[in-house]
Amino acid sequence: MNIALTGFMGCGKTSVGKALAELLPEYVRIDLDEYIESMAGRRISDIFQEDGESAFRDLEAHALAKIFIGAKSGEDTGEGRRKIISLGGGTITTEPCRKLIHEHSVCFYLKASSDTLVANLLNDSTVRPLLSPDGSHLAEPQLRARIELLMSERTHLYESAADHIITTDGLTYEQAAAHIISLL
Ligand code: S3P
Repeated sequence: MNIALTGFMGCGKTSVGKALAELLPEYVRIDLDEYIESMAGRRISDIFQEDGESAFRDLEAHALAKIFIGAKSGEDTGEGRRKIISLGGGTITTEPCRKLIHEHSVCFYLKASSDTLVANLLNDSTVRPLLSPDGSHLAEPQLRARIELLMSERTHLYESAADHIITTDGLTYEQAAAHIISLL
């Protein structure tokens, strides 16, 4: 079965995906945000800014279907191999993606406290449209408030999409990956 990693922005989905791929060389690793950017030929921040969140969510569902169900010839989504997919933080907010995740993967929710998320996001230069509304990074109090608001809207979605919940506070990415493997 494919492995899908979900969780809030900054929880470590990409890094845990990389650590898992080291331990599971027979799987192919795909980062959904990177896949969307290469499919669309545009940065996620530009897609949000120019076309809006709803257009991004449509692209996200399209990309996920291609990854799970199959790409047109010539595209390398690791056809025939099992996949480790680091989802985007909001992938579980739309029904088509929730259905794809449910049908095609074992899903792990990387659950991190707001303290961990704030610390990770303050250390990360990636522009995330939902956390950088005007393209500039929020100061800590505003960042924390934004995380807590979005988490209150999304926690039930992460939990219901997940087959397993991994509490990652205090774990290294390698420890989180080893924990996931122990549950496969
Ligand atoms: C989003 C999370 C981002 C990216 C987009 C929207 C979200 O991915 O997909 O900016 O809605 O939480 P990461 O969780 O990898 O930052």
